[in-house]
Amino acid sequence: MKISIVGTGYVGIVTGACFAEKGHHVMCVDIDQSKVDLINKGTAPIYERGLGALLKKHAGDKLRATTNLADAVRQTDLSMIAVGTPFDGNEIDLTYIKNVARQLGQALSAKSGYHVVVVKSTVVPGTTDDVVLPILEESSRKKAGVDFGVGMNPEFLTEGEAVNEFMYPDRIVLGGIDQPTIERQAELYQGFPDVEVLRTNNKTAEMIKYAANSLLATCISFSNEIANLCSAIKDVDVVEVMRGVHISRYLSVQLPSKKRVQPPVAAFLAAGCGFGGSCFPKDVKALAAHGQKHHVPMDLLNAVLAINERQPRQIIKILKKQFPSLQGIRVTILGLAFRPDTNDMRESPAIPIIRALLREGAIVKGYDPVAEDEARRLFSPQELELTKTLADGLMQADAIVLVTRWDEFLKVPDLLRQLTPQPLFVDGRRLLDKASIARYEGIGLETT
Ligand SMILES: NC(=O)c1ccc[n+]([C@@H]2O[C@H](COP(=O)([O-])OP(=O)(O)OC[C@H]3O[C@@H](n4cnc5c(N)ncnc54)[C@H](O)[C@@H]3O)[C@@H](O)[C@H]2O)c1
Repeated sequence: MKISIVGTGYVGIVTGACFAEKGHHVMCVDIDQSKVDLINKGTAPIYERGLGALLKKHAGDKLRATTNLADAVRQTDLSMIAVGTPFDGNEIDLTYIKNVARQLGQALSAKSGYHVVVVKSTVVPGTTDDVVLPILEESSRKKAGVDFGVGMNPEFLTEGEAVNEFMYPDRIVLGGIDQPTIERQAELYQGFPDVEVLRTNNKTAEMIKYAANSLLATCISFSNEIANLCSAIKDVDVVEVMRGVHISRYLSVQLPSKKRVQPPVAAFLAAGCGFGGSCFPKDVKALAAHGQKHHVPMDLLNAVLAINERQPRQIIKILKKQFPSLQGIRVTILGLAFRPDTNDMRESPAIPIIRALLREGAIVKGYDPVAEDEARRLFSPQELELTKTLADGLMQADAIVLVTRWDEFLKVPDLLRQLTPQPLFVDGRRLLDKASIARYEGIGLETT
């Protein structure tokens, strides 16, 4: 099928590259000429495992990028909207979506055939039908359901795992105003034969995405609240507590061999210094605000957000047990991206932790395998010294704080053993074995 994707951010470019890999002809559209040029050269504009190889393979052939949206619509049968939907403090900002809808409508006015417009961006229930559809009708002077279709296909990918998750999805949700809209999308996803496809209306498709993200964010804040209580009680380690929770028959399956299969949700039912990224914080805030708008109190989601905002302070609290004043204390942050395998630092817990340390007068260093450029956009060299290697980051530090679960950090115990004196190590993700490090402290663990 010939498709166009508007917006080549994390979602747009991964979607485009993966659909090209599945044999479709994809036109990617962006207003950012530099991204368009990179894509056409076969270079990934973001760090995402496997993306570079796909772009190299398909750029100039099955995948092309352009700034000309009208041209892309003319040459394709289906257009996806994958632009950003930031939270503006009160609700999601639909400026980008509305702009694209207007341009798509104008392009549709000059096109014959039943073109289908699909919203892939995360938008609150009602946006596709009540905002995007009327703009498309007005700017095209055509009728939805008669001249063109309008659908909603939420994206569930996780940054860092995006290509793999797109190629091997757990579900495909297809919303649409009518059968032809849904069937056109089903045709696009024909290359994913064993995946459960949920066909529904646009509002339900929109709501599924928010409900899914809100549940996972709730699991994280629940674990963090339990962790904070554990750290206030002697001899209770949250890691053991959550292990005991995971092996319940409700959460894990026991095979006939008696082996337990750990449920993937266990990754979210684990203590840490908080969730970040471009989705969880924004989506939970947007859904809570949307509830308020409909006069539905969203007490649970508001608590999820409040716990998460406070969580980075746990790190400072742990450091202060050992260093009552952080003035002049050399602290190294391991991991700046909001999760491993991505360079995305949007809403990363590393940001409030670094800012709090700077306010307290600490001297802060940071190491991340791939997020160096992103970190430079947020912190000056005076605020944050970035080290080139993990070993450099560990040297001459009074304290080390692990913020991101990068696999590379599994080497930390061995590297630390070579140092004298031993720095304090604060495990913000409970990644490492507490017995493997001389001066170990962690979230959800009372050690003094
Ligand atoms: N990042 C994720 O992990 C993820 C996962 C699932 C869903 N989502 C949702 O997908 C949407 C996109 O997220 P993202 O992280 O890819 O966003 P992003 O900010 O990384 O990218 C958006 C892109 O849209 C482009 N753009 C803006 N206006 C445009 C216009 N008028 N025409 C063409 N291009 C335009 C921007 O230049 C940018 O390249 C959001 O709604 C987000 O909530 C994101």
